[in-house]
Amino acid sequence: MGVLLIMVVKGNAVDKLDYNGIDCARIPEHIAIIMDGNGRWARKRHRPRPYGHRAGMEALRRIIEVCADLGVRILTVYAFSTENWKRPSEEVNFLMNLLVEYVNRELGALQDKNVRIRVLGMVEQLEPRIQQEIKRATRVTAENTGLVLNIALNYGGRAEIIEAARRAATLVSQGELTVDGIDEGTFSRLLFTEGLPDPDLLIRTAGEMRVSNFLLWQIAYTELWVTEVLWPDFSKDDLIRAIIDYQKRERRFGAIDVGKGR
Ligand code: IPE
Ligand code: IPE
Ligand code: MG
Repeated sequence: MGVLLIMVVKGNAVDKLDYNGIDCARIPEHIAIIMDGNGRWARKRHRPRPYGHRAGMEALRRIIEVCADLGVRILTVYAFSTENWKRPSEEVNFLMNLLVEYVNRELGALQDKNVRIRVLGMVEQLEPRIQQEIKRATRVTAENTGLVLNIALNYGGRAEIIEAARRAATLVSQGELTVDGIDEGTFSRLLFTEGLPDPDLLIRTAGEMRVSNFLLWQIAYTELWVTEVLWPDFSKDDLIRAIIDYQKRERRFGAIDVGKGR
């Protein structure tokens, strides 16, 4: 019996070792990722850009799994921006089809992992068949209580803020909200991220030092972490590195001496 107990304890220790250096009590509750670098990854291999996007999808699958295992509560990934329509139509179509393929292929596995899917963005501007897939994925996983996976699709931070402003104005004109009643709390509830806390950590792969219109309102006090690693190469170890760096930071939110936050 005693021996068995030691083995169990050892077993746990081995699990912990996997996440070497992470303080499991201070895992960021909400991680956002700008999944950039698919095109460069393909170019390095002398392959067309879609090859990189496909590899990027595999990276997403891996990272969702690690986030679910680590107990991250919310993962928000930038899949397609309102500016990405500027790309050649073949690439846009490929990305949209890849999304449908991803949902078809992964829905069962996400369901098994208790992942709840949400889509953030101007969904109504997407093709009907894409909208149908989104509806299906969100409906099927609606009751899941594990990781919340937000897929930002046809998402732009400025468009989101404008949409929220329009909704606030509509509510005021209907007498359901007063002008003075528009504060940070009510405004947040009109954004696509309604009901979710702001990201604690924003990761950008492929090295660009910019936010590219992602979650402009929500990242006011988010910790930023940029890596040169291209998204298709982004691994569990890279995510762990990001979390460890995050855990070393002191979040002050404009105040002083708040000690170590999450
Ligand atoms: C990110 O990779 C994926 C999307 C924007 C959809 P990119 O396609 O932007 O890759 P790079 O930046 O050209 O390497
Ligand atoms: C941001 O990457 C959008 C997504 C990852 C979906 P981009 O490749 O579009 O960003 P820029 O153009 O380099 O700013
Ligand atoms: Mg890019």
